[in-house]
Amino acid sequence: MKEVKIGLLGLGNVGKGVWKILDMNREELIKRSGYDIKIGKILVKDINKKRDVDVPKEILTEDFNEILEDDSIEIIVELMGGLEPAVDYMLKGMKRKKHIVTANKMAVATKGNILLETSKKEGVMLYYEGSVAGGIPIIHGLKDNLVANKIEEVIGIINGTTNYILTKMTQDKISFEEALKEAQAKGYAEADPTSDVEAFDAVYKLCILSSLAFDTIVNVNSIYREGITNVKPIDIEYAKEFGYVIKLLGVIKESNGELELRVHPTMVPSAHPLANVNDSFNAIFLKGNAVGDLMLYGRGAGELPTGSAVVGDIVSILRNKEKSSYYPHLGNEEDKKIKDMQEVECEYYIRITVKDKPGVLGEISSIFGKNNVSILSVIQKGKREEQVSLVFITHNTLEGNINKSIEMIKALDDAEKIENIIRIENL
Ligand SMILES: NC(=O)c1ccc[n+]([C@@H]2O[C@H](COP(=O)([O-])OP(=O)(O)OC[C@H]3O[C@@H](n4cnc5c(N)ncnc54)[C@H](OP(=O)(O)O)[C@@H]3O)[C@@H](O)[C@H]2O)c1
Repeated sequence: MKEVKIGLLGLGNVGKGVWKILDMNREELIKRSGYDIKIGKILVKDINKKRDVDVPKEILTEDFNEILEDDSIEIIVELMGGLEPAVDYMLKGMKRKKHIVTANKMAVATKGNILLETSKKEGVMLYYEGSVAGGIPIIHGLKDNLVANKIEEVIGIINGTTNYILTKMTQDKISFEEALKEAQAKGYAEADPTSDVEAFDAVYKLCILSSLAFDTIVNVNSIYREGITNVKPIDIEYAKEFGYVIKLLGVIKESNGELELRVHPTMVPSAHPLANVNDSFNAIFLKGNAVGDLMLYGRGAGELPTGSAVVGDIVSILRNKEKSSYYPHLGNEEDKKIKDMQEVECEYYIRITVKDKPGVLGEISSIFGKNNVSILSVIQKGKREEQVSLVFITHNTLEGNINKSIEMIKALDDAEKIENIIRIENL
């Protein structure tokens, strides 16, 4: 039987998952790949750290060169995270003709170009299924199974931590802060939750998805980003009243050759399948011009689900490595214009605290009218220390028109505070 040796960079959550899957599914993997997959060496930061997997200490190393210079190791699996030294190690590995598997969304989103170019130049494979939505096979899906389609839009819940927090806020009627604490206690959120709650993590994933789905190279900085820290239980209540659920969505749409790229809290109709993706689950909903509507749903993180994607990539490499060419997705990318957010069209939920005086509603409505914003419905609620809440739902309108209206409303003496503006996707 043929044997292949891999070098693992990292034995954290995902590294452990890969170790466990290679052990528990060894027979199936031999049958399916034609190889007995052995882990030759594992790079860690601290070889003396106590670990809850039974890995022989002699295969652990703190020196990357032990993996790089070992020519019996054909595949490097990068599961360290962060940009450096992960990117440097992947590039060095490719230059030594080693194939690469990574789950590192930050590296793929921001250094994908150089990684892909180097893999092409060196004639090695680079696979990164685990970098978006953990166990959900969206990357192979887009590159292979859906290749016959022009993709029209991709809309995803691609961050499990924020989906868990929003689900808890909705179901248990608790604040963002309380839900975050629960997420941290359950291990869904890190001690520093910024990357998740401020949507940086989702932006990296959206960047990878948009590049693949629309044959382009997207710069992460061109993606509009808004996290979930300003979503209040009252917004969730109003959303429910209007028939919506609030989710952090990544949205990619193409129209007239321009791409809309945005990640933000969004109201989704409560009957839509995305509204029913709860807890830490992820889902990606897309429209292809041949396949129609499609939704993939599953675990977007965790050691075994992400390990499943990573081991799948290892098997893809083993199946392809005898072939002479294996980078068909490279080299045909076109530059695409990214739509300015002012030009994006949406429906909007706008909550404003105003002084409880006659005529305020009229003043605000007239500002919206002047800016071509047509109002679908309005609710006025509550009486507390002379203030009331006005909640508007608009018809489809340009974001620029909303922004102009908001500037004018802020200047009104009777408008106390623009509490929240949430985009609505009537999917
Ligand atoms: N966790 C998930 O569910 C998930 C899902 C999808 C994608 N990902 C991605 O997968 C990657 C790994 O995530 P993770 O959650 O498994 O990370 P993790 O639990 O923090 O593990 C990181 C591992 O890398 C090692 N390491 C880190 N920096 C190192 C350095 N400079 N030199 C040597 N070893 C180093 C650590 O060594 P020690 O053990 O000695 O500290 C540890 O074993 C990240 O890119 C992440 O974004 C994770």
